[in-house]
Amino acid sequence: MEVVILDGADSIGALAADAITDLLKRRPEAVLGLATGSSPLAIYDELARRCAAGEVSFKSARGFTLDEYVGLAADHPQRYRNVIETELVSRLDFAPGAVQGPDGLADDIPAACAAYETAIADAGGIDLQILGIGTDGHIGFNEPGSSLASRTRIKTLTPQTRLDNARFFDGDLDAVPTHCLTQGLATIMSARHVVLVATGHGKAEAVHHLAEGAVSAMWPATILQHHPHTTVLLDDAAAGRLQLASHYRSTYRAKPPWQGI
Ligand code: F6R
Repeated sequence: MEVVILDGADSIGALAADAITDLLKRRPEAVLGLATGSSPLAIYDELARRCAAGEVSFKSARGFTLDEYVGLAADHPQRYRNVIETELVSRLDFAPGAVQGPDGLADDIPAACAAYETAIADAGGIDLQILGIGTDGHIGFNEPGSSLASRTRIKTLTPQTRLDNARFFDGDLDAVPTHCLTQGLATIMSARHVVLVATGHGKAEAVHHLAEGAVSAMWPATILQHHPHTTVLLDDAAAGRLQLASHYRSTYRAKPPWQGI
């Protein structure tokens, strides 16, 4: 796991966008794993800028979102399909239908989850997965206690996650769904490169466990310690509880600029 501590969201966005741009140059038909929430927004802004400037194209690429609320109406602005459309897809040049997500309105939820796993596998798997992290250490919506071997399935959101996400629902906790569909931890672990972004003091404890804690279902993101190519991009605040912060900083400073993440 490579930990990179940068001076803010813009630098994080630029570095992650560099990795995605390089990937698409090498492999225009690359498959991206897409997170929603606040953490990836600087990446998406930078990708939109580069796409408008003709510096990168998503014409042949595909995308799979991480998760989806169960039961939100098709036109609800917080339905993750709609969020990813607004924040990303509408600003890039993906082909129609190239980005898909789990179907939180399916009648047969287990079948929809199995179909999602099949769709990812049929696309050749995810080349680069963007992740945020919850204050309780979740990735996707794999809450504490999730099986480290899980695949896409329905999960119950914890009270903490519903509280954290109430800000997207005008602060109305009752409006936050109780269930979601999420790629499992094993699904995420199958991605070839994982880029996890965390900013702000609120993420410092989860980041400490992610990078330096014991691997445990209580902090689901710790499974990434077993991933062969995970990059963790942090600002100073999110890195605030890392014991080896100065080592990560000097290691990254000594890295040749052409090497990328
Ligand atoms: C979103 C997702 C979640 C978020 C996490 C952090 O698709 O899967 O794991 O990444 O809850 O959310 P933010 O970035 O809003 O702090």
